[in-house]
Formats: sequence, C-alpha cells, structure tokens
Amino acid sequence: MTQFKFDEITAHLKQSGFIFQGSEIYGGLANTWDFGPLGINLKNNIKNLWWKEFIQKDPNNVGMQSAILMNPLVWKASGHLDTFSDPLMDCRNCKTRHRADKLIEEFDPSINAGAMDTKALQEYISEHKISCPNCGSHNFTDIRYFNLMFKTFQGVTEDSSNTIYLRPETAQGMFVNFKNIQRAYRKKIPFGIGQIGKAFRNEITPGNMIFRTREFEQMELQFFCKPGTDLEWYEIYKEKCMNFMLNLGIKQENLRFRDHDPDELSHYSVATVDIEYKFPWGWDEIWGIADRTDFDLTAHQTHSKVSMEILDPETNEKYIPYVIEPSVGVERLMLAVMCEAYDVEQLENDSRTVMHFKANVASTKATILPLSKKLGDQAFSIYTDLLEEFECDYDESGSIGKRYRRADAVGTPYCITVDFDTESDQSVTVRHRDTMQQERVKIEDIHSFIKSYL
Ligand code: GAP
Repeated sequence: MTQFKFDEITAHLKQSGFIFQGSEIYGGLANTWDFGPLGINLKNNIKNLWWKEFIQKDPNNVGMQSAILMNPLVWKASGHLDTFSDPLMDCRNCKTRHRADKLIEEFDPSINAGAMDTKALQEYISEHKISCPNCGSHNFTDIRYFNLMFKTFQGVTEDSSNTIYLRPETAQGMFVNFKNIQRAYRKKIPFGIGQIGKAFRNEITPGNMIFRTREFEQMELQFFCKPGTDLEWYEIYKEKCMNFMLNLGIKQENLRFRDHDPDELSHYSVATVDIEYKFPWGWDEIWGIADRTDFDLTAHQTHSKVSMEILDPETNEKYIPYVIEPSVGVERLMLAVMCEAYDVEQLENDSRTVMHFKANVASTKATILPLSKKLGDQAFSIYTDLLEEFECDYDESGSIGKRYRRADAVGTPYCITVDFDTESDQSVTVRHRDTMQQERVKIEDIHSFIKSYL
C-alpha cells in the first residue's frame, strides 16, 4: 500500500472542500477548522453509524445530551480541577512554551514521559540537554502545571465566584445523570448511557490538523455493570469498537490495540486500552476503552451527597456500579477514515485522485450527470428523487471524464449518467468508483441499487 505524506492528504481535503481553516478570511485562528458540505456529511455519517451501533441497536443502552456548562463542583469531584493539567516549560531564550513530557517523547519515542513525575521530567531534560525545538537553546524555566480546562464566567461579573468551565469530556454529564436515567427508564444493571457532543481542552500542543484540537466532539458511552463483571464487559467493548472501525472501511493491518502500562493509567482506571491507527506520521490513539471502576460515581456521591448505589435484586445488597467507558473523538476517527481512503492511482494514460470511502460513510452516495445539458430536466428529477433518501450531488459542467474524476476525488461511490437512451429504455448508466466499471440500471431500481451497497 502506498504511504502518502500527511501534507498531501490535508492539501486535498482543503482543496476539495472537506475542511477549511477556521476564520480563514481573517488570517485564520490557529488550530480551528471548519467543515465544508462534504466534511459535515462525512462527520454526520460517522456519528449516525456510532449512534445506531452503540445506542439504537443495543438493547442495554440509551442516549442523552447533557449541557456543556456544568456546576464547577462536577469538575472538583471528577478530579479535573486538581489533576487535568500539562507540565509546561518556557524557553527563556525565544519565549516559546513547551510540554515537558512531549519534548522527552520526541527526543526518545520509546519513553513514556506521561508516567514521569515533575522531578524526573526536569532531570531527564537537563541530563540529556534536550533543546528548544524552536530556537535550539537549552535554557528552560522550571516545570509548572497548566490546567487544560477553558474557563469562562457565568453572568455579568467576572469574579472567581462566577467561574465556570467548558467541559473537557462529555463523560461527566452521564455520571451526574446516572440516577435520573436509571430511575426514569427503570434500567437494570448492566446498562449504558451514551452521548455525542463537543468537548474543549486548552491543548498546549495541538496539531496534525483535526487530530488534536482545542474544540472537538466526543462519542462516549458509560456502561454501568456489577463489580466483578467489569473485565468481561471491557473485553466485549474492545471488540465492539474494533469491529466498528473495520466497518468504516479501515483495514485491520492499520489498526492495533495498545494496553496502557500500569504507571500510565489515569487516576480513575484499572485497565485502559487504546485503539491506534497507523497515521501518515505513525501509530497514534483514536479510541480509548477504560475500566473506570466506581471512581466517578463514588466521587459524585461523596461531593453531592446523593446516593449512587444500586440495589442488587438477587442478593439485596447495595453497591456502586463499575463503569466501562469507550471514548472516541469524532474528528480523529474521521481523519483516520480520510487517510485510509486517500489514494492516487496511475491509470494507462492518466492518474486519478480517489477517496475509496465505503458507501456507508461516503459524503455523497451518488452524482447524477446528464450527458448533455439538454437532458438536464430528466437528470435533475432523478437527482431530487434520490435526495429524499441519500446525500447526492448533481454535476453538469465539463466533459463526462472530468466529472467522473471530480466525483472520484471526493469519494462518491456511484456516478449515474443520464443519456440519450434514458427516455426510451427508462435506464441510466451507473459507474462504480473503484472498478470504474459501468452497468445499465432501470431508473425505478436505483434506490434499491444504492441501498444494497450501504
Ligand atoms: N472520557 C474519557 C476521555 O475523555 P481521553 O483519552 O482524554 O478520555 C477520549 O479522550 C478521546 O477523545 C481520545 O481517544 C480522542 O479520540 C479524543 N480526544 C481527546 N483529546 C482530543 C483533542 N484535543 N482533539 C481531538 N480529539 C481528542
């Protein structure tokens, strides 16, 4: 398989209208991205598939949407106020700011600097004379910790009593609603609550386009189970998440599980695994599956004084459920799907850029092409009819070959050509993106034809 450079892929994504620099006409705002029509379709398709698989089709699970702004006590209880921070150092020479752990990992990728304490980080950097990536000098300040939560103020007065935070994960919205949902929906353990929503982190080293940003969306499930059954559910969700990624068209050879070492685990977890994807810059995390134990519910019970206990109907014992959490960033997953799909193929006398999206995620399922503008009315009516059910496009400008190439470049699986025989035989020519083969299909069968591939 050809490995493409990440710059080449991002240039294509921008040029073809999947993703634009945020606030571009004002020179942009660093690390913000806007999704064009193709980008948002792809994103919505991924979110809808997740919702269907993890919520709608799963009899154990229900969905919800919690507020982005939450009572600050939530973040005290969850540990985010005290521990959700990065170790930062300033370069005294060029005044740039750096994450100490990242400097070490870039210097030696075999080191897990996330597990090092402040003293160890500082000693490693001075012993190995790690230099500033910006100016090359070795003149850093001491490490200070910087909380990643975005702060703002509720109401008109900007004083600390009005400080609130943009949520850094959607998870806490589900923990604080655990009892509401369990009671209102008469849910019995085991059951899960899932949501899709925005999260915000003031990342000091964002990068790789939409891979690490300060504003992103998460798809998270909190699966509540009886202590002692947690590792079984952990394995089930590991498998389910991996299968979900394969079903998006990502090849097995580009995916792997990476277990967290004991010293790398978050404060709340006894077991965590990442599903990593082989991005053009190397293996990197997409999806984390964690056994969060009863850490969060216990913490909220302690801080809110509201009981989070469940009564076991068989033993009559009360207990706080354990939680298995599969958590994935929508944009990260989307980026992996786009990197996987991108290809430049050499043809006999030509080459073509093609995105080999699986039909279930493709931004547009079909493009309708009238062979001549004279056939526009009939073609447009097929197009509007298909729009009832599928994301489609209509393209009448340029030669048919050019139009095929445009559709290939954005990953549209089917081109539907209306020609001069269409009226008499009530059929169209369907061209398949990957094989470039063509077949004649009756107009009345087009819906079911496309559906059969989704
Ligand atoms: N509730 C658990 C949690 O938030 P996490 O590992 O910090 O765990 C989960 O984040 C997922 O969210 C990551 O695996 C990644 O896909 C996504 N994610 C985290 N930070 C991100 C960022 N700055 N930009 C884009 N996606 C991010």
